Amino acid sequence: MVDDTPDEVLAELKTRNLGGWGVAQIAAGTGLAVYAMWVGILQPGFRKVPLRLQVPYIPASKGQVDNVMILLRGRKGGLVDLGSGDGRIVLEAFRHGFTPAVGFELNPWLIRLARFHVWRAGHHGKVSYRREDLWKVDLTECKNVTVFLAPSVLSLLQEKLQAELPDDALVVAGHFPFPDWKPCRTEGQGADRAWAYSMQAQRQHTLKNNKCTVTNGDVTFN
Ligand SMILES: C[S@@+](CC[C@H](N)C(=O)[O-])C[C@H]1O[C@@H](n2cnc3c(N)ncnc32)[C@H](O)[C@@H]1O
Repeated sequence: MVDDTPDEVLAELKTRNLGGWGVAQIAAGTGLAVYAMWVGILQPGFRKVPLRLQVPYIPASKGQVDNVMILLRGRKGGLVDLGSGDGRIVLEAFRHGFTPAVGFELNPWLIRLARFHVWRAGHHGKVSYRREDLWKVDLTECKNVTVFLAPSVLSLLQEKLQAELPDDALVVAGHFPFPDWKPCRTEGQGADRAWAYSMQAQRQHTLKNNKCTVTNGDVTFN
């Protein structure tokens, strides 16, 4: 086999019967590689986050980023991306005039990558990525919020956003909508789709659904 051409080696491998032991070795090797990648690259930083709140890194597609930016048109001021990954949404938001543009992310590798992208784009020092747990970030001053997180955590996040964001805030969700909220606008189709939610409209909608009345700032449940 030493003197064989690559085509001959490939042909021999194709015809060779791996057997149960060979299949088990390949399966174990693949499993180990996936586990090592999960622990070493994707999971660091999440040790203190409960398992049910851990969301893996999946980058937003180009179409998704474009749709998020379309829904943010006409807005100004700062923007935060909760779970910013490699920072693509934050960087694009900065390019669209949002400042300060801040990403919150727990994975240190992704933060390094995001900073590298910013440096390469020539915006070093103008966009920030903070290694913070999004569940602990104070959002009371945030006017523009973007998220691309798993459906399993979005219902919990609804509560945090509703409790903290100011009335004039706009929340834009990519890929997955908030389960109980009513979007004021949507953009795109399929996996690239994005949903925009006005906090003020959302609060009114929630009050109406809960059959509440607000008199001089006091909420009464009917
Ligand atoms: C689906 S990815 C989205 C990445 C990026 N926003 C984008 O659109 O390309 C979700 C990101 O949230 C981060 N994340 C998950 N839970 C987090 C938490 N509790 N605090 C901060 N970041 C978190 C993950 O590390 C991952 O990078």
